[in-house]
Amino acid sequence: MAGNRTFTMIKPDAVKNGHIGAILNQINAAGFKILALKYTHLSAEKAGAFYEVHKERPFYGELVEFMSSGPIVAAILEKENAIEDFRKLIGATNPAEAAEGTIRANYATSIGENAVHGADSDENAIIEGSFHFAGTEIFG
Ligand code: CMP
Repeated sequence: MAGNRTFTMIKPDAVKNGHIGAILNQINAAGFKILALKYTHLSAEKAGAFYEVHKERPFYGELVEFMSSGPIVAAILEKENAIEDFRKLIGATNPAEAAEGTIRANYATSIGENAVHGADSDENAIIEGSFHFAGTEIFG
């Protein structure tokens, strides 16, 4: 069911700093079920395509370089009201503005290196999930 799914990535900063386990644990503890999970390294081309929507933004080059700088963890998650609840769980894009206890407040270092990505709509969750996973890799 589209409304019950979201898509996330644990970004290269959080992977490099050893936070994969803690972040997945916090996601599970908040009631999200993992339907698909992949540890991978995006090429600059793939990172650029994923963030195509931000192509005209001044930070696009930096974003693509960062997202292809090391491995990431991609996942499709399921929970009622997934999009909104997950965005609450991760906190504001800028960790300086993220509420206490949120994943970004706990693990992010800057607006660019902000530990996790969360889809912003049901439609984008489907597009982003399909970008990373084949149907046979999604369990649920
Ligand atoms: P994310 O939720 O993955 O979606 C787009 C990303 O662009 C965002 O997280 C940030 O990591 C990044 N981003 C947004 N604004 C800026 C900015 N001003 N400078 C650098 N990166 C940014």
